Amino acid sequence: MTTAQETAPQPVFRKDYRVPNYLIDTVDLEFDLGEEVTEVRARMRVRRNPAGEAGAPLELDGEGLVTRSVAIDGRRLEGAEYVESDVSLAIAGVPDAFELTTVVHIEPQKNFELSGLYKSSGNFCTQCEAQGFRRITWFLDRPDVMARYTTTITAERERYPILLSNGNRVANHDLGDGRQRVKWEDPWPKPSYLFALVAGNLACHAGRFTTMSGRNVALEIWVEPQNIDKCEHALVSLQKSMKWDEERFGREYDLDVYMIVAVGDFNMGAMENKGLNVFNSKFVLARPETATDADFEAVEAVIGHEYFHNWTGNRVTCRDWFQLTLKEGLTVYRDQQFTADMTSYGVKRIDDVRGLRAAQFPEDAGPMSHPIRPESYIAMDNFYTATVYEKGAQVIAMYATLLGKDGFRKGMNLYFERHDGQAVTCDDFRVAMADANDRDFGQFERWYLQAGTPRLAVTAERDGDALLMTFEQKAPRGQEHFEPMHVPVRFAVIGRDGARVELRCDGVAQEADETVLELTELKSTYRFEDVPAGAVPSVLRDFSAPVELEFAQSDEELAFLYAHDDDDFNRWDAGQRLFGAAILAAAEAGTEAVPTPEQSAAFGQVLGDARLDGSMKALLLVMPGESVLAQKMEVIQPDHLHTARTTFRRALALANWDVLLAAYRASRPTGAYTHSQEEVHRRALNGTLLAYICASGRDEAIALAWEHFDAADNMTDMQMGLACLCEIDAPERQRALDAFHAQWHTDPLVLDKWFTVQSSSQLPGAPARVRELVARDDFDVKNPNRARSVVHVFAAGNTTGFHDPSGDGYRFVADHVLAIGAFNPQVASRLAKTFNQWKRYDPTRRELMKAELERIKATNGISKDVFEVVTSALA
Ligand code: TRP
Ligand code: ZN
Repeated sequence: MTTAQETAPQPVFRKDYRVPNYLIDTVDLEFDLGEEVTEVRARMRVRRNPAGEAGAPLELDGEGLVTRSVAIDGRRLEGAEYVESDVSLAIAGVPDAFELTTVVHIEPQKNFELSGLYKSSGNFCTQCEAQGFRRITWFLDRPDVMARYTTTITAERERYPILLSNGNRVANHDLGDGRQRVKWEDPWPKPSYLFALVAGNLACHAGRFTTMSGRNVALEIWVEPQNIDKCEHALVSLQKSMKWDEERFGREYDLDVYMIVAVGDFNMGAMENKGLNVFNSKFVLARPETATDADFEAVEAVIGHEYFHNWTGNRVTCRDWFQLTLKEGLTVYRDQQFTADMTSYGVKRIDDVRGLRAAQFPEDAGPMSHPIRPESYIAMDNFYTATVYEKGAQVIAMYATLLGKDGFRKGMNLYFERHDGQAVTCDDFRVAMADANDRDFGQFERWYLQAGTPRLAVTAERDGDALLMTFEQKAPRGQEHFEPMHVPVRFAVIGRDGARVELRCDGVAQEADETVLELTELKSTYRFEDVPAGAVPSVLRDFSAPVELEFAQSDEELAFLYAHDDDDFNRWDAGQRLFGAAILAAAEAGTEAVPTPEQSAAFGQVLGDARLDGSMKALLLVMPGESVLAQKMEVIQPDHLHTARTTFRRALALANWDVLLAAYRASRPTGAYTHSQEEVHRRALNGTLLAYICASGRDEAIALAWEHFDAADNMTDMQMGLACLCEIDAPERQRALDAFHAQWHTDPLVLDKWFTVQSSSQLPGAPARVRELVARDDFDVKNPNRARSVVHVFAAGNTTGFHDPSGDGYRFVADHVLAIGAFNPQVASRLAKTFNQWKRYDPTRRELMKAELERIKATNGISKDVFEVVTSALA
């Protein structure tokens, strides 16, 4: 819980890593689950680590524990034989090897921090990453201490018929007094953060998987009984994940059972506990009537992500928390490849880069900017960031680009061969990649050392028939010190016929029409011979490195690439650059944005392109988002930006009205809902077109949006119709909201959507509207999904509302940082990060935001999580 900060919380540094002084080989845990008090008995085989500090006392981590007893080799210690503080228990003079038994009491029903053992909808569950295990029992709560666990759970049978933990169930008996006892055994040594326990009234959706070596695995999705009809998609996703990891990486599952539990109260997405994943229910439950196509895809991706952790995270884990990207960057890379294989490579790649630019680029440019492997932290939970996860995944993708698919696989094989069963570092991974391929990745380490998004300035110059391409690596914005990175730049030249030109260049592979240039210097020039006149360079194809490209190609060239580039990502990005520049220019000038006739025509051509269909077309039509464009403004003026983007979209829609309407009609459903990829693509396009129709501001739009909403036989269409109506000031808005609420108020995940569309609505008066939302009876600030659906969505997604010049939006969000911070530091500190860009705004807003940050900082008893965020923001 939050404790008053008498002294400022201190950071921990990566350079201070020391091996543990003691190791724990086995742990036998016994839980007696009660309504008032839960008793936890832990019996551990402890031994001195020969590599540790000689003679050091045993120092265990613990938080909020009531210690009942401590015993060594069966002898109960007197109070004077150990030293207990708020966060540690130290015992001096212990033998070299011994059995330690502790008994503690905890109160899970009062745990709203949702870390450690807590209750959700009356069921017990755990969340131990990163440092939650110490809230359950005294332990060496660090990932390089790996032990074999058994877990015995005793609980009332009626309330808690299902008792789960990691590994295999080895015993089960009725105690005859209304209670039952179940024992689990996990044969694989694991760090404490992968421990899990679940107890409650749950229903099981079961399936099977036979692994490549013939092992028969029971698959179990556990949910609250009313959700049992929403599990099939999760089960199929798990089966696909298991198959994919065998085929793509040769990785097989290693237990006889794989369990997933869906809980309604969860701080993050999901957790990869060994053999017993615990999930935020929004990443498990899905039925066409309640979940959108995006939800279906997210369920598959998160199920995949947690499953892939079994090898990248669990079998090979992190030595210390600074290495978090070792497991997270790599596992995100794996889940992105998985989704790409299940859906469409180009669309997935664009989605991922879009997410990176919207969330990670700002983080890289903000006060908490950190390398993917941070150097220090105050609260580790603050470093589960877009940088560690998403940029970390892009760094892994660069290995794959540099080594090719086979070389990357070889590197992965060597990594597993060397490190299975170990707790290792990012350097170990990098060295395995290099050794397996006989490469030098020394310079590549800078991707782990330097924070910020490097800029890549590019110029193209003709010299007769030759094309001179110059690449200059530049320090991230606002950063002075910068050492050149090892940057793979995928490159091609597109001829006027739309075909790639053969590349002839000294030092570049012969006879290729696409190549990967490996930049290692601050500045490098390549001379390509015999490049036909008018041919257009296509640089950083497939987004081959997480850099900010500065390449002033003409509107004409960008429009050409937007129409013809055969690299999906670059085709899309050409449009983003073309339209983004126009919107930005108007935003800087504080005017409405008017597309040139050429820009309207380029847009119209994609709109009417009959060969292009589905999600790719939808992506090509979507303008760069406000948070991405904001990064490029000198001083961010959110209302100017919003006006510019809105007027630009309106003008594009009006200029192409007939084609737009025809394309919308042509992409309406022709039959009942199905979940085929083709239909997913069609709905994506159809929804995007509806949004443009509404952006036109024409009256017909209202009827079309209402019809879209009203005729929907699935949540994708229903939510899209509702979201569009929510941006229009007409009676249909409230009518749709009421109808939606009446139909879905009993389904929490769907009700979250109802809150979300309203808190993101940019109609005037947004701060007052969100205040009304949180005053409702069905708003529950203690439930992270519900709290986020209003407050976080408003702060991060409603630029005009949050940045309302009155400061009311800021006050609303800061009030909730404090209110939520009183019981859940993790959710509160994520929310506090929405102020991180305050220095980039106009003076009025800057002062208003600063005042809110100062108010939070000055409040007594804020958690170290929130403290770290606000102090770094104000520094
Ligand atoms: N390891 C989890 C993942 O795969 C992250 C996570 C889940 C987490 N719950 C958490 C991290 C709570 C910190 C706190 O992404
Ligand atoms: Zn993860």
